[in-house]
Amino acid sequence: MCGIFGYISKKEQVNIWSVLEKGLRHLEYRGYDSTGVAIFDADIKGVEIVKSVGSVDELKAEIENGQYNLLGNIGIGHTRWATNEEPILENCHPHFSKDYVVVGVYNGTVNNHVDIRAKLESEKYSFYSNSDTELIINLIDFFYNKYKDQQTAIRKTLLSINGSVALGVVFKDSMDKIWFAKKESSLIIALNENNEEAYLSSDTLALTEEGLLVYPLRTNEFGYITADNLKIFNLDDKDVTADRQPFSLANSKTSSGKGKFQHFLLKEIEEQPKAIRSTINKYVYNKDIHLGIPNSLLVNLDNLYFVGSGSSFNASLVGEYLANRFFHYINTKSIIASEFIFKADQLRKDKSLVIFLSQSGETQDTLVALEYCKLLGIPTLAIVNVKTSRLATEADYVLFTQAFPELSMATTKAYTCQLILLYLLGIKVKYLKLLQKREVALEFANSILEQYIQIIRQLPKYMEDIIKDQTDIQKLAAELTDKKNLLLVGGTEFPTCAEGALKLKEICGIYAEALPIGELKHGSLGLIDSDMYVILISTQSNNTHEISGAAEIKIRGGKLISILSKIDANKILESTSDYIFNIPNLKEGSQFSQPLATVYLQLLAYYIAVHKGINPDKPRNLARSVVVE
Ligand code: F6R
Repeated sequence: MCGIFGYISKKEQVNIWSVLEKGLRHLEYRGYDSTGVAIFDADIKGVEIVKSVGSVDELKAEIENGQYNLLGNIGIGHTRWATNEEPILENCHPHFSKDYVVVGVYNGTVNNHVDIRAKLESEKYSFYSNSDTELIINLIDFFYNKYKDQQTAIRKTLLSINGSVALGVVFKDSMDKIWFAKKESSLIIALNENNEEAYLSSDTLALTEEGLLVYPLRTNEFGYITADNLKIFNLDDKDVTADRQPFSLANSKTSSGKGKFQHFLLKEIEEQPKAIRSTINKYVYNKDIHLGIPNSLLVNLDNLYFVGSGSSFNASLVGEYLANRFFHYINTKSIIASEFIFKADQLRKDKSLVIFLSQSGETQDTLVALEYCKLLGIPTLAIVNVKTSRLATEADYVLFTQAFPELSMATTKAYTCQLILLYLLGIKVKYLKLLQKREVALEFANSILEQYIQIIRQLPKYMEDIIKDQTDIQKLAAELTDKKNLLLVGGTEFPTCAEGALKLKEICGIYAEALPIGELKHGSLGLIDSDMYVILISTQSNNTHEISGAAEIKIRGGKLISILSKIDANKILESTSDYIFNIPNLKEGSQFSQPLATVYLQLLAYYIAVHKGINPDKPRNLARSVVVE
């Protein structure tokens, strides 16, 4: 699970490293435990390979301290999240065959690596690493040697791999092109309008230059780029370049730098009001919600399933918890994507919709679940942030979160935008169901719709207010810095607690557990003493569980940090809490307060990490798009 990047220029003696560095920095969200580049100079038919354990910063330090030739006309680079082989120098990409005949980078999985290794060993190949990619590069070398043709070598290799593939390769014999191959893993080609430069990338995010035309690739395609041209072939060797419609990347990004912020994470947390506002504006206009899903499908739903991983699963839980008020008489269920296969047989097919939530749209567990649903013939809806992702292209219906790129490892703005889209879906379904009931007048249904839309439209402003003053959350973070464990409890806010716990685990290395508050008394109270801090979220007027849970915590000496909406029912909690963070009273839309509570928890995790000296953009052991099962 990694990011790959390639660049080719018509000009010679270009500073290739500076182009690769910029591209790879945008791909570090896919992994950052080792990095490497290969820079080719066609003039002297030479290649310079530099690798480093660690992120692009470590590679840059290596380059600055060494004597490397960074000038040339082609470069390929790689940033890695180790899955099978350790993140040591030998396993870093780019990999190369004997005499550097073939040099390449790879993102994907090779399920049949044992067979490929055995085949190559029988042909007298030997290897310097444990990397599957080294095997693949040598397999290309083997086919090239055998057929004396680069196209055949790449095609035969793609055919030989059982797994997923995003490959970028340069042959020593032709340093005027980068060959590529794609099967499942994401890979994008871009040509500059001036016909002087071309790029290869795991994600459009890394394509920051002006005037680029992007050519989407389909699975099981391969080909090459030169500085001014592109060829795409399918597995039958048919040239399919002509049926590809390029698109321009203009307007698809926000600024990609950190700006005034020390970390992307804080920048992205603070970008949330803008992101949710633009998500609302995309789908709410003319006093209605326009989701592009047929009303006939929504109004007749009997079963609604939500599927996601990590934070996107926590958003799925939010969807499930909307059932009582918004998905009346619909059987709702959220399913962790990696568990989908164990639960799929229970799914009802008729009058059903499966909603897949994902920031990247490339999470393998989620894609496997999508494929299974397609086999079952159940309609699918993707809620996704990346337009070119597989999830976006393969689901029957798509809603795009308008979060724009997230460069920090942990998701923030894509998550809260997912919640907004779930709310809009809930409101729309409720409205259609009201209309379906003959006794409800159109005016009444319209007034309910209008009321909810108004509340949703206020959320960005409320979020701005929370973000404006971070003093108290910073103080609390300083106090919690040394804590090893934290509990988060809530009623309908349980999914937000789960998201907060995930943020504390992944960014701060704190073991945090989320519990439905009523469950506290069934065992976990045993954890409470004067050392234990518990975060409680309460936003509903029906809060008896919250009140008794808070009392159970307090009488055992626990510290209570409360995120409370300003409603009368929370007065008792205000008096028992040690710390209080407020969210406004959203009245009929009280369930829409989750994005606001989430922002407090994101900020808390951010500041704890900073106090602990952790880089919150790159916490240990993690990568953003998990493209392995
Ligand atoms: C948490 C986080 C992960 C992702 C998960 C799914 O901050 O980023 O838990 O939410 O890996 O990724 P997507 O949403 O891209 O499918």
